[in-house]
Amino acid sequence: MSTAITDPILDWYDEHARDLPWRAPDATPWGVLVSEIMLQQTPVARVLPVWHAWMERWPTAAALAAEPSGEAVRAWGRLGYPRRALRLHATATAIVERHDGEVPSSHEALLDLPGIGAYTAAAVASFAYRQRHAVLDTNVRRVLARLCSAEEYPPKSQTRAEVRLAESLLPLDPPTAARWSVAVMELGALVCTARTPRCVDCPVIARCAWQRAGRPAYDGPPRRG
Ligand code: ADE
Repeated sequence: MSTAITDPILDWYDEHARDLPWRAPDATPWGVLVSEIMLQQTPVARVLPVWHAWMERWPTAAALAAEPSGEAVRAWGRLGYPRRALRLHATATAIVERHDGEVPSSHEALLDLPGIGAYTAAAVASFAYRQRHAVLDTNVRRVLARLCSAEEYPPKSQTRAEVRLAESLLPLDPPTAARWSVAVMELGALVCTARTPRCVDCPVIARCAWQRAGRPAYDGPPRRG
């Protein structure tokens, strides 16, 4: 763990983070889970109104599971990739059947739910239950690739080396680790963006390997993000 990297990013987050409802202290684990599924392929601005309407109508997994899955698809609206609505309905049903309606807190039990992959299990354990898990989404992978590997973009598929790097940076105190993960995510979303990053606004510009190397352009096969 290097506090020379983590501390400035945590401070930046405290000052610049967007006020998003699934990050609020009163957000429920179910609300966090719903947000993570919605945010996987859809930008925050489009997710916000649908998330609010969804949580109003189905504030718990049990409320959603009690309705036909077609209702979930209808409420998904224009978020895109509507199969995610069916997966979320199946997840809600499994939460009711296996966990008495409570979103489980262990990474293993989360991973066992239908439609929950490694990323979502780590995100929910971390953001909803303040556990210590490396959370590697596209934004985090890009920030770490630039900061520590002098690469403009991470490899196409996640590598063991990326996981090791993320784990080595993860603060030891679980709640701080959770805050760190969301802070890096936010830095990737707002400053260290895929195209035209705003390096002048970066709290760790002095520590960035990509910056130090002169921001070499990615020269691999065409890719996004
Ligand atoms: N906050 C927590 N998880 C997030 C995500 N996946 N995207 C944006 N903000 C988030």
